Amino acid sequence: MNAFELNKIMGWVLAAALVIVGGQTFMEIYADGHGDGQEKKTAYAIEVEGGDADKKEKKAEAPKALDIKPLLASASTDLGAKVAKKCKACHTFEKGGKNKVGPALYEVVNRDLGGAAGYAYSSALKEKGGKWDYDALAAFLKSPKKFLPGTKMAFSGIRKDEQLASLIVYLRSLSDNPAKLP
Ligand code: HEC
Repeated sequence: MNAFELNKIMGWVLAAALVIVGGQTFMEIYADGHGDGQEKKTAYAIEVEGGDADKKEKKAEAPKALDIKPLLASASTDLGAKVAKKCKACHTFEKGGKNKVGPALYEVVNRDLGGAAGYAYSSALKEKGGKWDYDALAAFLKSPKKFLPGTKMAFSGIRKDEQLASLIVYLRSLSDNPAKLP
């Protein structure tokens, strides 16, 4: 046996070893990946279902005090426009709209309380001061008499938070330059 032949034999041995080791590794990866994938999928599905149901139950059990700002991001201007039909007996919403029983409401977000030109406000509203920011609007429209005792707005308020938030984003949209959402 000369050196050349020995090399050739060693070459074949190495090649065979590679095929065996490589093949095993491939089988391992394949088996691992496959097995893991299935395990993870099952565990994941069960966890998520349980988690969601738990969260929903907790939310329903413990209603929080009203914080309108987080609700505004997901509120619907279209729903708000529908809710606003309740206001139309007394208010106008379009640009250049007139005061009716109540003051015109175009550009009301961030307007001063009592800020509609030519409208005769109650002294309760005139004396309150401040701006119609999101919090003030939410508190007033949820319960006008509670936020502003002595107001002459004869309206009981919007009880449902989702409707209230939608109404407020609708009021926000009534502007040449709508205020920023919080
Ligand atoms: C029955 C009539 C009536 C209805 C219905 C009504 N309002 Fe009013 N609104 C008034 C009156 C009157 C005032 C003036 C209150 C005052 O001077 O105390 C007023 C005042 C306001 C103000 C204060 C505006 C400012 O310029 O300071 C806002 C905001 C408002 N209303 C929004 C609404 C919205 C939104 C609705 C519907 C969900 C609504 N109102 C429904 C009569 C009404």
